[in-house]
Amino acid sequence: MITSYQTAFLDYLEKQFLEEKPASLYDPMRYILQLGGKRIRPVLALIAADAVGNDFKKALPVALAVEVFHNFSLIHDDIMDEAPLRRGQATVHEKWDANTGILSGDAMLVKAYQCLDAYPAELFKALTQLFSKTAQEVCEGQQYDMDFPLQDSVSQAEYLHMIEYKTAVLLGCSLQMGAMVGGLSRLESQPFYDFGIQLGLAFQLQDDYLDAFGDPLTFGKQVGGDIIENKKTLLYLLALEKADEAQQRQLKEFFQTQPADPTEKIATVKALFKVTKADLAIQDLMAQYTEKALLEVEKFAVNEDKKTLFKQFAKALMERKL
Ligand code: IPE
Ligand code: IPE
Ligand code: MG
Ligand code: MG
Ligand code: MG
Repeated sequence: MITSYQTAFLDYLEKQFLEEKPASLYDPMRYILQLGGKRIRPVLALIAADAVGNDFKKALPVALAVEVFHNFSLIHDDIMDEAPLRRGQATVHEKWDANTGILSGDAMLVKAYQCLDAYPAELFKALTQLFSKTAQEVCEGQQYDMDFPLQDSVSQAEYLHMIEYKTAVLLGCSLQMGAMVGGLSRLESQPFYDFGIQLGLAFQLQDDYLDAFGDPLTFGKQVGGDIIENKKTLLYLLALEKADEAQQRQLKEFFQTQPADPTEKIATVKALFKVTKADLAIQDLMAQYTEKALLEVEKFAVNEDKKTLFKQFAKALMERKL
């Protein structure tokens, strides 16, 4: 079932942005959109539209909007994180340069908004309001993410707020916009947003876990990238909390350096994540947020087989089977 939404989205995506010029502006956009990815956000929009409405294809423009926005945010994020790899291929700023990534990303943000032109005025306004609120929160979350490495201390609550904004709100928005296109009001579609928030938190915790412990062959990104960039992820915060004094000193010292060859830093930090059992604690939290997400689904005013679809999606995502 989930693959059928993915396929419907990919068929639609294939026909977009083919003619735009100049190539130097649009090739990076076509490149990143065709690199693949799990297509989580568009699929969530389509599932939500299908669960409440009678024609999920009406939500294809919304699905495109959130995927284009997501890919815009990745281009800029990869510049900011100095990331070399995205979905197993060179990042836009590596393949071209940072200036190209900045402007292509900007153009994609505009394109994302233009997708919403497909809807009648009242719905357009409601969608745009939600989308803009979300986009602003993503920027705020991203800025906290950039600020934290420079801060002496970050609390777990601050970290959770940061990932809610940089990641979870876009999952919530995708679901809610899909439900709104399906015919629900902003208020009626709120439970879909709430599900997206819990799932998004679980998902970003997992992304942070995989950034340290993922398989380089399948992860598609540079393993250890967050450690290189001194990201104060929950793995780091939990390790600090559970570490003895010597280990705490070691962790803190490592997170103030950016050695030219990060191999030893990555290996030692990962070992500290493991001895402190921060790696297990984070997996526990992932499971807790996934469970909370599944509880949110019970609040949906849709029939049981539609609920099953959301639950299947959440489980498949968290088992990385998408
Ligand atoms: C990557 O998102 C950025 C995060 C919010 C963790 P995804 O893991 O959804 O990226 P793709 O689109 O599947 O590559
Ligand atoms: C991504 O956070 C959040 C946004 C794109 C705004 P990450 O920096 O963890 O995403 P990845 O790991 O590079 O995909
Ligand atoms: Mg990144
Ligand atoms: Mg980042
Ligand atoms: Mg990450």
